[in-house]
Amino acid sequence: MSNQPTRPLRSAAWFGSADKNGFMYRSWMKNQGIPDHEFEGKPIIGICNTWSELTPCNAHFRKLAEHVKKGVLEAGGFPVEFPVFSNGESLLRPTAMFTRNLASMDVEESIRGNPLDAVVLLVGCDKTTPALLMGAASCDIPTIVVSGGPMLNGKHEGRDIGSGTVVWQLSEQVKAGKISIHEFMAAEAGMSRSAGTCNTMGTASTMACMAEALGTSLPHNAAIPAVDARRYVLAHLSGNRIVEMVEEDLRLSRVLTRQALENAIRTNAAIGGSTNAVIHLKAIAGRIGVELDLDDWSRIGRGTPTIVDLQPSGRYLMEEFYYAGGLPAVLRRLGEADRLPHKEALTVNGRTLWENVKEAPLYNDEVIRPLERPLREDGGMCVLRGNLAPRGAVLKPSAASPELMTHRGRAVVFEDFDDYKTRINDPSLEVDADSVLVMKNCGPRGYHGMAEVGNMGLPAKLLEQGVTDMVRISDARMSGTAYGTVVLHVAPESAAGGPLAAVRDGDWIELDCNAGILHLEVDDAELQARLAERDPTAESRRIASDGGYRQLYIERVLQADEGCDFDFLLGCRGADVPRHSH
Ligand code: FES
Ligand code: MG
Repeated sequence: MSNQPTRPLRSAAWFGSADKNGFMYRSWMKNQGIPDHEFEGKPIIGICNTWSELTPCNAHFRKLAEHVKKGVLEAGGFPVEFPVFSNGESLLRPTAMFTRNLASMDVEESIRGNPLDAVVLLVGCDKTTPALLMGAASCDIPTIVVSGGPMLNGKHEGRDIGSGTVVWQLSEQVKAGKISIHEFMAAEAGMSRSAGTCNTMGTASTMACMAEALGTSLPHNAAIPAVDARRYVLAHLSGNRIVEMVEEDLRLSRVLTRQALENAIRTNAAIGGSTNAVIHLKAIAGRIGVELDLDDWSRIGRGTPTIVDLQPSGRYLMEEFYYAGGLPAVLRRLGEADRLPHKEALTVNGRTLWENVKEAPLYNDEVIRPLERPLREDGGMCVLRGNLAPRGAVLKPSAASPELMTHRGRAVVFEDFDDYKTRINDPSLEVDADSVLVMKNCGPRGYHGMAEVGNMGLPAKLLEQGVTDMVRISDARMSGTAYGTVVLHVAPESAAGGPLAAVRDGDWIELDCNAGILHLEVDDAELQARLAERDPTAESRRIASDGGYRQLYIERVLQADEGCDFDFLLGCRGADVPRHSH
């Protein structure tokens, strides 16, 4: 650990001068009880905290920050913790995705405008991970991710239950008349019984795995449970390491490379990760200036078996994943089978990804299966194209029913989520198990943030008959904890004039996941005529905004295939020191 930095520090532009400006920058900081020597050339390490009691998954982050601080101080740095917008998944309406870009702007400007030499990103709940990585990538200073870790396994009536996944399961059982509403509600406290993020391989765990596979965190960051003392040791060690990274000038752009993103895509297939990762990795890549597109997911991910047997695709939860060896064991298994595309990718600890994992122990072949005995032979994200999704759509094969992944059926169309909720359980709805449920107006513009409503619950009358899955298509997203044969992220979305807007009840739709096809059996002329008939006034009323951030969002958000970032946020703007404030 270095105590005397040899590199010029960015923070010296604030604290390093003996003039009026230096006086002001130091003096106000001193009201926190900071002695002179803290300003004498120590690296200033920002701890970017998404703590909030309104983001319960991140509610333990003040304690996490304390451990990072210990590590920073021990290594000779000076830690300063600062809050940023905390976009929690569980409470925020219309969806935490709506504010992901807002949070990223908060992070970017907080880093660039302040006397920081490096930053530790405290992330957990789904969207906090991409938001902070996006903001940091647009600045490109040394950066390390510390995730909050998953909750302990849910426990209910003598069995383990998984965050989110059990909600989808039990709510369908209520609709099918198999359990009472009281039995349903009794599972609430058992599902979420400790600090931490969702304990399934939902979006939070997926993004924590992505951060580790990208090399932006120390090994094991993804899986150590939130309440395990080793989570706090990892926070401490990350505090140690970030100080060294200043000296090494190990900026995010040296870690967050095209190679790292390819490793992450392959990893996502192996863990059975969330479809949300497709959008978030694109947005992160866009900020650091790395090209990535939907076809990369097919090219790099397809053919990779899912070997992590976690809910919602499989059986276990994040606790077992950590005890089985965590992500390093998965990466080792991939690497030994020559399935890790870039072993040489640099990680934040200064070693390559392969150096970090090549001797990683693996303790449980049921949780992290051998490649020869996978959960799914092909876990790579299925990218679909066709006249219904000219710019693509995705489906998560590990969460789908294999027999429905090639399917032809007639559309039952819902104009939006409200229309779906009003009519789905109507006994007179003309629908059978072969129908294809289609929902419009749930994309980034249409729903103001592209809510996780794509895994439409099935009609009660079919659930009562024992139907457990149907093909569903929308421009929405789906929670990483959800499952089903669900086509998501249809682009362009219907509220941006995509062909999804033209689908009518009774149209035939063909889904072929092997060939990557999503086809509406309506000819081009008819499709164009239908789109031309749309009433633009009704369309704009549907996505109406009364100003504010919502207005900015509607006007500037990009489509799903482009990562749903704002057009003006793409790219790395660096961390040149701005002008003085006085
Ligand atoms: Fe926060 Fe799942 S709701 S991690
Ligand atoms: Mg989620």
